[in-house]
Amino acid sequence: MATSKKSTQELADIDRAHIIHPYLPKSTTERVIMARGQDCALWDTDGKEYLDATGGLWLAQIGHGRDEVAAVAAEQISTLEYFTSFWEFSNEPAIRLAAKLVEISPENINHVYFTSGGSEGNEAAIKMARFYHHRKGDTGRNWILARERAYHGVGYGGGTLTGFDVYHDGFGPNMPNAAHLTTPWPYRQELYNGQDPTDFLINELEETIARIGADKIAAMVGEPIMGVGGMLVPPDDYWPRVEAVLRKHGILLIFDEVVTAYGRVGEWFAAQHFNVQPDIIITAKGITSGYIPLGAVLTTDAVAAELEKDFGFPMGFTYNGHPTAAAVALKNLEIIEEEGLLEKAKKMGQYLHEGLRTLLDLPIVGEVRFVGMMHAVELVTDKESRTPLPMLQPMLPDVIRREEGVIVRDCGHNLVLSPPLIMTEAEADRMVEAMRKVLERTTPDGVIHEQ
Ligand SMILES: Cc1ncc(COP(=O)(O)O)c(C=O)c1O
Repeated sequence: MATSKKSTQELADIDRAHIIHPYLPKSTTERVIMARGQDCALWDTDGKEYLDATGGLWLAQIGHGRDEVAAVAAEQISTLEYFTSFWEFSNEPAIRLAAKLVEISPENINHVYFTSGGSEGNEAAIKMARFYHHRKGDTGRNWILARERAYHGVGYGGGTLTGFDVYHDGFGPNMPNAAHLTTPWPYRQELYNGQDPTDFLINELEETIARIGADKIAAMVGEPIMGVGGMLVPPDDYWPRVEAVLRKHGILLIFDEVVTAYGRVGEWFAAQHFNVQPDIIITAKGITSGYIPLGAVLTTDAVAAELEKDFGFPMGFTYNGHPTAAAVALKNLEIIEEEGLLEKAKKMGQYLHEGLRTLLDLPIVGEVRFVGMMHAVELVTDKESRTPLPMLQPMLPDVIRREEGVIVRDCGHNLVLSPPLIMTEAEADRMVEAMRKVLERTTPDGVIHEQ
């Protein structure tokens, strides 16, 4: 792209005048206008450098600014930039990508339905699950189970299944026939009435199924590790036991792996990490490392057989199977494979965790948890009561970014990190150091003292 001739000030003025940013009130005047990225580093239009500890929005697996990806996109655009995948039309990059996804996914997965992102993927998965039962003649099965603190995007169905009031209030009425179960969050023992968390959650699942009626429930959807919820890692036995209950009742298991797939947890899919075989897996983000929008919903022979009956699956997006997006995804997956980024995510994830563990000496750090390259630092007023730390203005991530040039994110009272899988040890050290510098000046009331 030609370098902008506008000053940062001019760009910011135009931005403030015309762009509606997600989650940004008019009263916030600050803008950080990113100009360039390379590996784990970003530069804004004033030349200030940042370390990207969030991988954008939890993607950027292969890091920023890779010329070999740009070359593939350019070649595909000059050959066949786009054509539809509706009906009998197809294209080679989409075909090769589908084969690759089937190769790396859990054994029961054999079919791919492309989208442009995670919200579309959730809408597709909900429709697939309901339609699967409908076509089988089980027409009463349309309830979907989800969990509190879940995030399933901002569509109508996925937005309903998302388990935060802020995504519901004022947008109603929501999609009917959705139920939210308790969050698996072992650090928050108070959620489980003193019971073993998995025992409590499985009892609740069984009771909910009995209350609604198994013959009315199409599916349960869950992020294997909750991202927006605060990088919440469930106990190891949670997913296998949930899977067994759902199987018993003929309810489909949908994994929303929009964050966890494509190496983030040190495997291609979190389903492999937890050793379960979901019926539907929703993916996006890391499939292209964010170089271009793309999502893929993966499913089994049994589900696909119903969807493809009669006149087929009556749901299609203009950009289903976009050839340029598919070509970029193939290159991205090739890089993940060639550079051993699954292994690297495990190794560097452990390294970063060891660094973050040192923050536990601070009175406001209650827990640090991780799987692969998904990390959370849970902040509390004191370790005894575990009361969530109030997150006041200025927000901790803003201060860490402004003062230390490191981009982290808050999810409630958790600071979360999901760096590119190519992160170096020196970069991990810098992330930890930046957080320490600001957290050691933060009081249990959430006030950040001046330096
Ligand atoms: C688990 C999960 N599902 C779905 C989505 C929505 O994806 P998108 O923003 O691409 O629509 C996200 C986005 O962060 C997510 O974390």
